[in-house]
Amino acid sequence: MKRTLWATLALDRRQPATLQDQLSSSLREAIQTGSISSGTMLPSTRELASELAISRNTVIAAYDRLMGEGYLESKPRSGIMVREGLGSFGIAVAPTSKTDSRLSLKRRLKFEVPLPKPFHPCQPDVNLFPMSMWNRMRNRVLRRYGAGLLHYQSSFALGWPELRHALAEYLRSNRGVQCGWQNIAITSGSQQALFLLGQLLLKRSSVVACENPGYVGARAAFLHAGAKLRLLPVDELGVVPPQKTGQVDLVYATPSRQFPTGATLPVARRTALLEYIQRAGAWMVEDDYDSEFRYTRPPLPSLHSLDRSGRVIYLGTMSKVLLPTLRIGYLVLPDSLVAGFESLRLVTEDHGPMIDQATLAEFLLQGGFYSHIRRCRKNYAKRLEVFLRVAEQLRLPLEFRFTDGGMNQTGLFHDSSTDDVAVSKALSQAGLDVRALSHYSSNTKQYRPGLVFGFTAFSPATIRNSLKVVAQVLEKFA
Ligand SMILES: Cc1ncc(COP(=O)(O)O)c(C=O)c1O
Repeated sequence: MKRTLWATLALDRRQPATLQDQLSSSLREAIQTGSISSGTMLPSTRELASELAISRNTVIAAYDRLMGEGYLESKPRSGIMVREGLGSFGIAVAPTSKTDSRLSLKRRLKFEVPLPKPFHPCQPDVNLFPMSMWNRMRNRVLRRYGAGLLHYQSSFALGWPELRHALAEYLRSNRGVQCGWQNIAITSGSQQALFLLGQLLLKRSSVVACENPGYVGARAAFLHAGAKLRLLPVDELGVVPPQKTGQVDLVYATPSRQFPTGATLPVARRTALLEYIQRAGAWMVEDDYDSEFRYTRPPLPSLHSLDRSGRVIYLGTMSKVLLPTLRIGYLVLPDSLVAGFESLRLVTEDHGPMIDQATLAEFLLQGGFYSHIRRCRKNYAKRLEVFLRVAEQLRLPLEFRFTDGGMNQTGLFHDSSTDDVAVSKALSQAGLDVRALSHYSSNTKQYRPGLVFGFTAFSPATIRNSLKVVAQVLEKFA
């Protein structure tokens, strides 16, 4: 038996696949094809290792893997054997030739990971993220909480408790949001929060009032819940609060920085919106996606801080201040919605990634979060300054109105007959990613044509060079 077995286990160190992978594949294949039959005792790990001139750990790991897959079993006092009763599967297993596995591995390595092109909106500069500090904190929480951080934790469907505490504290002191930590729900980004709110609060006959132009992801979430949209116009001050009551069940808005125009809603309009939702008996979702980035003045307190009706749901995200792929967003829910939201959250998954949530809690509590925001603010302010200066030097035919903060600059065309979609397409052909303002509108007549430029993820040199390309393309449309 040994002879046959050794003969089938040809390992090749030049292959990209690890020896452990090669050994387990060969053994699996030999069992599946019946070359090694059920009940056969395998050589000890020491014997096989010395026969194949490989490390014993490699053999142990390959045996372990096949035991986990159910091909092998351990017999007390005898050793490892091919599980009884497997029979020959009679399946034609295509031999995994060396060339095949090398090819498949190459295919995997060829996988492209795209990076944002200038001027993709709402992209943080991920190079500013303090990854080594984050990893130290990650190791620290893993040591501190051990297995507790690794098991299912369905009692934490609304998030890692320490993170909920730390966020409540952050929102109280920085955004004027008065809430207990039990009101905080952690979600997989704010997009998941919007989707779940749609499922929780809306039904087929519901009406959602939302900004036009506005965030298309929110519209998609509400439409998916079956709601109809009522589009609220946006002007140079931000969203115009509705006058007529009519039926509205939910209002979605971005008061701190209207997305995508960039306007900050003045207090009078904020109070008008709050009075409106009270009259209409509607919920309000305040999407506060990037208010940390105000460069010349401190951020305005949230709309939530003015609300006395308990009908405002505050929504935030770590995608802009930290990393989009972290997928951590959060909601501040009124008491009456917490239990319902938790049940719904449990339908999607027991909880979000606990290791990242615990690391983020540590990052907040140890202050790394705040110094990271300060660092980003400083860098982004400089990039904004470069962006505006170069745009002016190049005499772009665009008006930039809201230049005190944010991650994007929306330029409105001086000539209101410009086809911003055509311009955006031409810019894309020139290798840039500049969205048309009308991409965010359901009815382009609601607002002037324009272009949305994200500037935060790009170095001053990239901003300068890419704006020169923008100027060349725009010249063709003059
Ligand atoms: C206004 C607004 N809200 C919400 C989001 C979603 O963010 P995330 O799901 O990454 O938290 C975005 C993304 O760009 C956005 O622009």
